[in-house]
Formats: sequence, C-alpha cells, structure tokens
Amino acid sequence: MAGPGADGAGSPAGQAAAVHGEIMVATAARMKALGEHLAALLRPGDLVVLTGPLGAGKTTLVQGIAAGLRVRGPVTSPTFVIARIHPALQGGPALVHADAFRLGSRAEIDDLDLDADTDDCVTVVEWGEGLVEELAPSYLQITIAMNRRGPGGTDSVAEPGDEPRTVVIAGWGERWAEAADPARLGRTGAWDAL
Ligand SMILES: Nc1ncnc2c1ncn2[C@@H]1O[C@H](COP(=O)(O)OP(=O)(O)O)[C@@H](O)[C@H]1O
Ligand SMILES: [Mg+2]
Repeated sequence: MAGPGADGAGSPAGQAAAVHGEIMVATAARMKALGEHLAALLRPGDLVVLTGPLGAGKTTLVQGIAAGLRVRGPVTSPTFVIARIHPALQGGPALVHADAFRLGSRAEIDDLDLDADTDDCVTVVEWGEGLVEELAPSYLQITIAMNRRGPGGTDSVAEPGDEPRTVVIAGWGERWAEAADPARLGRTGAWDAL
C-alpha cells in the first residue's frame, strides 16, 4: 500500500524501509528496556515517530529512551504541554518529547517549531504518523499494537496489567539506510536480551 499508515507500518511514497524489525514485548518493563536499547542507536538530529492507540506504551517506550540517553526526567504523557525538552545530564543529545495527539494539522505542527534546533536533539513524537515525517528526511517509525491474546501473562517479569505488545520498527531515509546493520536493528536476534 502506498502512503503512511495504510498497514500500520507506513511506507512513504512506496519506498522500502531501510531497516525493519518486528518484536513481541511482553511487559512494560521490557518496553522500557527496548527504549534503552534503541537509545544506543540514536544520534543528534534523529527523529523517532511513535504510533499506536492510547495506552499502547508509547510514553513507556520514551521513558526507556530517556533513560538510555541519560536525560533529565521525568518523561510523562504531556497533557497541556505539547512538547518538552529533556536536557542531557551527562553530555550527549537532549531529548525532545512531543505528543501530536492533540494536533490536527501540519500547520499546528509547524507552530511548534519542532525543526528549530532538532539537529542537536533526539526528537520523539507520539502519534505523529502522517504529520511530522516531512520535518526530517529520515526517521525511525515505531508502531505499537496491542495484542491481548499473547503470552505475556506467563512472563516471569510480568506485573498485573502487563499485556504483550507487538512493536514494528522501520527506518526510513538515508540515515537509516546507512545504519542498516540488520544484526543491530532489523533482526530479532538483537532483541534477545530484552
Ligand atoms: N507490554 C507492555 N508494554 C508497554 N506498556 C505496557 C505493557 N503492558 C502493560 N503496559 C501498560 O500500558 C500502559 C501504557 O501507557 P503509555 O505508555 O502512557 O501509553 P501511550 O503513551 O501509548 O498512550 C502503562 O500503564 C503500562 O504499564
Ligand atoms: Mg503517551
């Protein structure tokens, strides 16, 4: 399917993703661990677009990314604030965490000036599919799907309320073509430690 979002994974202009992976994440703790793992791959200027329904675990994943980047927290679901900057505590890029859930149009996204100094930051946008991709020539798209019938309840680290999620990761554009080391991102073996 052409056009982002048609199949939940996105495919701008029919382009093939440079990197692609799909994993099952059984618990919220593992979603944070996935974020920490991802943070090691992120560089200043990177854009990460998170999509998935309310309660899917987007903010939970951002909490892990923030821990991995060692930026100042806490990372919470923005309610009145649409975007927050979390400065680095130990060098490295700051994290810009934006929630596009309340934004209805490209014009409103532009008003955020998200592209002002994002060259120096890692920018993570929740629910931004179809809205923010054009801000960057390359981006990492992460789609979280809820799957209540999965095996999460038997997981040894599961807490009450933990339910498995299916996470699809796709890297678009030159940045992720260069980073396309499938052993690091695309191949599920990279996530065995989670
Ligand atoms: N496998 C899982 N991954 C992520 N979160 C999970 C998982 N299982 C249960 N949860 C819970 O689901 C909720 C996700 O909330 P949140 O991260 O704010 O979602 P979103 O930002 O997508 O709306 C949290 O309460 C979290 O503890
Ligand atoms: Mg959220």
